[in-house]
Amino acid sequence: MNWPEKVTIKEVGPRDGLQNEKAIIPTQRKIDWIDQLSETGLTYIEATSFVNPKWIPQLGDALEVGKGIKRNPTITYAALVPNRRGLESALEASMDEISVFMSASETHNLKNINKSISDTFPVLKEVIDTATGIRKPVRGYVSTVFGCPYEGSIDIEQIFRVCDQLFEYGINELSLGDTIGVASPRQVEEFLEQAVKRYDKSLLALHFHDTRGMALANVLKSLDYGITTFDSALGGLGGCPYAPGASGNVATDDLVHMLHNMGIVTGIDAEKLIKSASMMQSCLEKPLPSHQMAIYNAQ
Ligand code: HMG
Ligand code: MG
Repeated sequence: MNWPEKVTIKEVGPRDGLQNEKAIIPTQRKIDWIDQLSETGLTYIEATSFVNPKWIPQLGDALEVGKGIKRNPTITYAALVPNRRGLESALEASMDEISVFMSASETHNLKNINKSISDTFPVLKEVIDTATGIRKPVRGYVSTVFGCPYEGSIDIEQIFRVCDQLFEYGINELSLGDTIGVASPRQVEEFLEQAVKRYDKSLLALHFHDTRGMALANVLKSLDYGITTFDSALGGLGGCPYAPGASGNVATDDLVHMLHNMGIVTGIDAEKLIKSASMMQSCLEKPLPSHQMAIYNAQ
């Protein structure tokens, strides 16, 4: 197999990982955790989300977190932004990159961001225009690429229509989300077969949730297609509150373990990663779901 030599892992634990956690974590503990993650060799951390705190109470302290974390100049600190209001706060917090997000599925888009797909486009265009106008890179997420909790499978042309529009607006990277962890390697193959013909694969990232235990298999299939960027959350935390049944992202610690064992470089220190996962595990007072943490907890 012609696997890449190096893979970039984008840590979304502090955002995707925590957004579904009910018990509010003290802001300082989030800051300490992100500071610790910054010592692991990661080059990209999605630190928080500037959304309406009524919708995502856990991340209501986004401004304090963004302002409180120590900045390592080799790391990009990013945040989710749904609209102009969120962008203003993200800029106030000096985030290095912002991520706009929407869904390929009409119903999930409505449930998640309270708008139809067509009403979302101008909102995101304004955010992207403003951000790129001041040279802030913008990442675009498209959710429900491999299935929607409300509509089932989504037509590939509909998915490409949303992705095309975001690229046209000026995003610098597209993260393709398996929001509810339904993808299988066969589905990933069928999708990527077309996607890598349509888009420059170096601009694509895959964002797998592990609801049905298939995330690592899906990463492996994506590697076959030359994908070199993956989103993951330490310890397998994660889930979208507006996608019933969605569970954690592929665990960063499991992903690093697999890639390193395949001889693929990530630049991440696996031991420091586990220490950092154990810190969040103590904070949440429950075992984290990753395989590496199960081994750690058994010792
Ligand atoms: P809305 O209620 O339609 O907004 O929410 P609105 O524009 O009508 O405003 C209503 C109120 O919200 C106003 O306050 C605004 O000021 C406030 P009021 O006047 O009533 O006091 N408001 C805000 N406050 C703070 N920050 C903001 C903001 N915007 C408006 N940015 C909105 C629309 C999009 C804001 C809302 O639906 C929302 O916050 N949704 C977020 C949902 C979310 O975060 N979901 C999880 C992330 S997506 C995900 O997990 C998937 C992903 O991981 C990929 C994958 O797995 O597929 C990325
Ligand atoms: Mg997600």
